[in-house]
Amino acid sequence: MSRFVEYFGVEPDGSWRAPGRVNLIGEHTDYNDGLVLPIALPNQITITASARTDGLISVASAGQDGVISFSLDSLAPGSVKDWAAYPAGAAWVLLQDKYEIGGANLLVESDLPSGAGLSSSAALLCATAVALLGLHDIEVDPAEVARLAQRAENQYVGAPVGLMDQMASMCCTAGHALYFDIRAMTTDQIPFEPAADGLALLVVDVKAPHRLVDGEYAARRNSCEQAAAQLGVPALRSIAFEELDDALARLSDDVDRRRVRHVVTEIRRVEDAVALLRAGNLRAVGPLFTASHASLRDDFEITVPELDVAVDTALAAGALGARMTGGGFGGCIIALVEASATDTILTAIDKSFADHGFTTPSALDATPSAGASRIS
Ligand code: GLA
Repeated sequence: MSRFVEYFGVEPDGSWRAPGRVNLIGEHTDYNDGLVLPIALPNQITITASARTDGLISVASAGQDGVISFSLDSLAPGSVKDWAAYPAGAAWVLLQDKYEIGGANLLVESDLPSGAGLSSSAALLCATAVALLGLHDIEVDPAEVARLAQRAENQYVGAPVGLMDQMASMCCTAGHALYFDIRAMTTDQIPFEPAADGLALLVVDVKAPHRLVDGEYAARRNSCEQAAAQLGVPALRSIAFEELDDALARLSDDVDRRRVRHVVTEIRRVEDAVALLRAGNLRAVGPLFTASHASLRDDFEITVPELDVAVDTALAAGALGARMTGGGFGGCIIALVEASATDTILTAIDKSFADHGFTTPSALDATPSAGASRIS
């Protein structure tokens, strides 16, 4: 008997998937109307589903005990808690926008570590949304599903995140990074295949779990919004790199000044990275990664010792560039390395973590993969 039949006593109607992501560069610029450059990972959330006619959503997760059920009629922000808040939030936002979804049985399976800064939340929201829409043959543009998933995370789950993770999960394509301009709402697929240049992108989970729902992410966002208001612009994207010194001189708060410097220089680094990738000069992107990490550590102040040690060790062992990726305060680093140096660098990070008494880190496959889709 399949696991789905074991949980729900009926055969599924189909299954859908949505991947996690790592961002190559452009961290914490999405909610400043900036530029980001994520890739989707091979790791993903899969939802196997069947339609129900009684208006109930029943969710089970292969990693958790039991089935959780809630009624579509009584959904409101906060009405479903813990991990089931994500599928509930996806259903809630679809109903709010008058999509004619109905009840469903949903079995959630995942090979995407949660709490590792790889966007398992966005993947779960996107996977649920595409499953609920797919069960009812409703076609919605992937970028619109991403916006719905973000709204569910902001308004139902209560995390004030930007739009990068959901866009990556919905719109990435294999062999490419997604160049997403949040202000213009335009995307461009940038070929990104390190292996073709004898390189590898390493993703290392430093096992220092982070939480976006506690206050630090919101505090960074508030600082940016406060500074934009003081500078009289709708978002920090409006400050051109050339105007940065002038803008910094007009800010009264030193912390806000450093936050602004990160955002404005980081947006410039994304533009530089994209120009280098388009010119086929992948190796030259390494130093931009390293500069991004320094900015996130010193100006944005969202790194933790595990992230700094992993980056410093990768660089000392020969990486072309390395940086933390994601929201910060834990999660993963990425490192651009000569493919032949992969083992040396991973071994060096393991050793240095052991020397520091940190939890053993783990490496993930970073093959740039495709966004959400129906599997069967
Ligand atoms: C989290 C958020 C994103 C983005 C990143 C930082 O992943 O969900 O919207 O702000 O942090 O770049």
